[in-house]
Amino acid sequence: MDKFAVIGNPIAHSLSPLIFQHFSRLMGQPLSYEKIAVEAEQFIALIAQLQNQGYKAVNITTPYKLMAFNLAQSANTAANATQSANGLTFLEDGTIFATNTDGIGLVSDISRILSTNFSGKRILIIGAGGAAQGCLPSLLAANPAEILIINRTISKAQDLATRYQDLGIIKAISFDQLTEPLDIIINASAASLHGDLPPLPAACLAEQTLCYDMMYSQEPTPFLNWAQQFTPHTADGLGMLLEQAKENYYRCYGERPALSLVELRKILGWD
Ligand code: ATR
Repeated sequence: MDKFAVIGNPIAHSLSPLIFQHFSRLMGQPLSYEKIAVEAEQFIALIAQLQNQGYKAVNITTPYKLMAFNLAQSANTAANATQSANGLTFLEDGTIFATNTDGIGLVSDISRILSTNFSGKRILIIGAGGAAQGCLPSLLAANPAEILIINRTISKAQDLATRYQDLGIIKAISFDQLTEPLDIIINASAASLHGDLPPLPAACLAEQTLCYDMMYSQEPTPFLNWAQQFTPHTADGLGMLLEQAKENYYRCYGERPALSLVELRKILGWD
């Protein structure tokens, strides 16, 4: 039976084992999938140990995505572009292949919600940390009209925008410059994790604005709670989690399991 694990710290609340067990059932593909919490000093040794024990692949979550990328000998385009990995595959030649499917997970989920593509869309990203950086290459590849980045610490948003300045469609802005409605607002900050609401003015939302929080929980996040006053179009990051898991499954088995977000919410008892 193929062995998998998800590694992070903390890891207790990870839904990845449950999602992979459902993939396994749906696809008739026997596999085992554990959660492993590890301290930073032990991370490299743990990966070597799992590789020696014949694990097929591991998923990587906070805070080890950068460290994981650095352990790999080869990587997919998204992992190279973000210098971070949410998956490591142990290849038969003894090397490690890094993947990053977070960005494609986000873009697939938002495309599903919009029932259209991103072309011509104006996007606001809140946050300039690992989550925002990780999704930018995939968002750019989806061909939006403009991407604005806003962050509690404005200099970090500016640094991130500067990295892509040649493309001419990414701009860092401050909260008081938000005077017009956007098409899509993505909360890629850790604010919801701390129960905080980014100080967005109501002027940046209209009835057709999609508000997307990369965080997910049974109850709406503070950002989505706030956004629901202005727009019926809100979604949390559970769909992104599911889509990135499908991409990681595809990497291992060449097929994408047809588990829908509605089914996953039912399985979790989140309806
Ligand atoms: P990571 O290690 O993934 O980058 P992080 O540094 O904890 O995670 O934070 C990610 C993003 O969430 C950052 O943009 C951070 O803003 P700062 O650059 O100002 O630190 C943002 N963030 C974290 N906590 C926040 C909060 N309570 N309110 C608003 N933004 C927050």
